[in-house]
Amino acid sequence: MKTILTGLRPTGNLHLGHYFGAGINYLKLQDEYDFYLEIADVQALTDNFDNPEKVRKNVFEITKDLLAIGLDPNKVHFFIQSKIPQIAELTVFYSNLVTVARLQRNPTVKNEIAQKKDLFGNNGESITYGFLGYPVSQAADITAFDGEVVPVGDDQLPLLEQCREIVRKFNSIYGETLKEPNQVLSNTTRVKGLDGNEKMGKSLGNAIYLVDDKETITKKIMGALTDTNKIKKDDPANPNVCMVYYYHKLVNSKENVETVCNECQKGSRGCVQCKKELIEAMNKFLEPIQERRNTYSDEKVKEILENGTTKALEKATSQLQKVKQAMKIDY
Ligand code: TRP
Ligand code: SF4
Repeated sequence: MKTILTGLRPTGNLHLGHYFGAGINYLKLQDEYDFYLEIADVQALTDNFDNPEKVRKNVFEITKDLLAIGLDPNKVHFFIQSKIPQIAELTVFYSNLVTVARLQRNPTVKNEIAQKKDLFGNNGESITYGFLGYPVSQAADITAFDGEVVPVGDDQLPLLEQCREIVRKFNSIYGETLKEPNQVLSNTTRVKGLDGNEKMGKSLGNAIYLVDDKETITKKIMGALTDTNKIKKDDPANPNVCMVYYYHKLVNSKENVETVCNECQKGSRGCVQCKKELIEAMNKFLEPIQERRNTYSDEKVKEILENGTTKALEKATSQLQKVKQAMKIDY
């Protein structure tokens, strides 16, 4: 079985974007690979170093969310990044193989710095060493487990390229030691936000979370963007510019979606009714996820993380040994 490694920053609960963009993919992959799933608390701290409570809380929240969608702890090794010191060691070794200029040119890092002006300054002048270097740490995440396959969103591709460069440089200096993660599975589905934004995101405030209760769902869907040209209940409208229709397509049955589309175009459907039907469909979609979530106690989640961490430590220990030998620091 090939090894797969991916990571998630524990900074918030999972939303529909995570579910359709990544979660569904993970469910398939857990049967086909030896799957290491890193809860990347160290990486989360690079831009949340001033908010450790948030990161700590979300380590458990996000693990529960992942279990809730049906990932099987008997198949997936869930582990916490900070519990694997080998990753930190590898990061130090790899940092010699990357120039500061290369990190500054990394498109993903550049984008993030531009978005975090409050933390890193208007022109990135207050960028920390830690944040600028997180791609190096991510290369350590991947290679610590010999990750050959890495499923990520397309925003992460520059980080994977950076990892490959580090691996090539390492191998060329110290001899063939590390595997290049050559098979990158890019997530295909991107889910739009309640406001019609191309991306659903926590920072955009336009997300539906897997843990949202009925009241929250009602409030969010009632406020979702519809066809703004539709004024009266029986005006014909264009469902393709309406977020309510968009989510009907994600969570409702094919027949119902067709009905929504036809009636909307004909003008025989009011938006309030349409939203109520979506609320019902959304709750029905979320119910089994939330029910499964409730079967995992805090104790159980801790135990799952401990087991996964034990397994991850084994693998990372032998990888680090190989690296140290290659670097002639295996005293
Ligand atoms: N950078 C990833 C994100 O922001 C999270 C991550 C951490 C990751 N380590 C990883 C992804 C290793 C893939 C492989 O979503
Ligand atoms: Fe959107 Fe439904 Fe209103 Fe049509 S009827 S605009 S699909 S909410």
